[in-house]
Amino acid sequence: MADARPFHWEYRPEPVTRELFQVEGGCALSGSVSISGAKNAALKLLAAAVLTGERCRFTNVPEIEDVRVMAQTLRELGVVVDHPEPNVYEVAAGDVEWLFVPLEAAAKMRASFMLLGPLLARFGRVIISNPGGDRIGRRPVNLHVDAMRALGAEIEYRNGYYFATAPGRLRGTEVRFPSVSVMGTENVMLAATLADGHTVIRPAAQEPEIDDLIAFLQKMGANVQRTYPDTIEVDGKRRLRGAEHRVSSDRIEAGTFVVAGAVTGGRIMLTNAPCDHLGAFLETIQQAGVGISCTKDTIEVDGTALGGAGFRAVDITTGTYPGLATDIQPPTSVLLTQATGASKVHETIFEDRLEWMGELRRMGAKIRILDSHRAVITGRSKLHGADVEIGDLRAGASLILAALAARGTTTIHGAHHVHRGYENIDGKFLGLGARIKRLEEGNDATSS
Ligand code: UD1
Repeated sequence: MADARPFHWEYRPEPVTRELFQVEGGCALSGSVSISGAKNAALKLLAAAVLTGERCRFTNVPEIEDVRVMAQTLRELGVVVDHPEPNVYEVAAGDVEWLFVPLEAAAKMRASFMLLGPLLARFGRVIISNPGGDRIGRRPVNLHVDAMRALGAEIEYRNGYYFATAPGRLRGTEVRFPSVSVMGTENVMLAATLADGHTVIRPAAQEPEIDDLIAFLQKMGANVQRTYPDTIEVDGKRRLRGAEHRVSSDRIEAGTFVVAGAVTGGRIMLTNAPCDHLGAFLETIQQAGVGISCTKDTIEVDGTALGGAGFRAVDITTGTYPGLATDIQPPTSVLLTQATGASKVHETIFEDRLEWMGELRRMGAKIRILDSHRAVITGRSKLHGADVEIGDLRAGASLILAALAARGTTTIHGAHHVHRGYENIDGKFLGLGARIKRLEEGNDATSS
């Protein structure tokens, strides 16, 4: 077993290749697009694989930057991570040498903090950096840390790092969260699978990606189940085994393409789309007048359902699942710029998740930002091309949507934010007939 060696280490961010998207809008999308595996499931599945020394295999893993960061972070711990073919990852954590998750990983991706629970539960200690992630307001981790303490962990915070130990073994307990947290639920659930005794997590987040993680843990031999919609119970085991799992489809990517079909006045078909996980979103956009028909794993989108008259204004409020996902709020807001009348947007989960609307305004959208949680969008706006900058992942995809709906050419800087969470987004849009190019900043050569 490894020890956490002393280190002398200075954070030097790697230079990011500056890329931009150039989009010529005004073209109705048509055809079919296949939805990739869910980012927010894949990252936690990779983290869960360190709960065992045996090999785990994952298929339908999205080819995105966040997955590459998680894979590299694991490799730096001494975990073997193979990537034998596209969308397949194999993880073997038999020999973990280095129980240290550095600032470099944490600064790139908040989900690196998902390694706290499994490393602590299996090895009894870890030093892990305070995470960064999207620039969408304060993103504390107090709920994770308090929950680990409830399981018996001792955790000190010094110089940006959490020094966590579990003298003996973590102990099962009742973990009561003061508010719902997706990764908080997942972190404590992973830790509890190897703890001594019974753990009850309440209120547990209800996002479908958590149920994907539960299904994988059960294949590993863990005794974990959702006993009520907001309750997860775990009986800890001494060991778990390797297992194989197919990552479920990405509901946020699916929602993004639904809006793309709608705002371009197109007709598109999404395959491998998790219709069942998109209830609140599909209800909203149907109220707005988008034509939707679903089967178990396809969604047909008809953006011409209202005959080009413009969509209907709808008020939206984000919430924890099964409410409207905060991650789908930015794409939905783009749709609302194409609706006639005033739509209120209430973002309840994160502060500052409306800031990107400043860029949308540069494209001709009429948006009044009332405070850090509320905005009013008045449509229908004739969007036009502009020079805009991406600040975070979901805002980035949404600016592409606005550009597809706009007249003229839009240059969208900061494309790397989008690659964090969308597999081959420009290729998928090209396949639907969009005019989109990925270029290096200051260089006219197309790279897609
Ligand atoms: C996850 C998702 C993210 C999504 C979010 C909400 C991943 C990798 N990311 O993020 O895409 O937008 O759920 O659906 O799965 N909070 C605290 N203390 C904590 C943790 C959270 O105060 O320790 C607050 C947050 O600031 C936020 C709220 O709780 O206001 C919910 O956040 P949470 O559900 O934890 O989001 P993440 O799990 O980080």
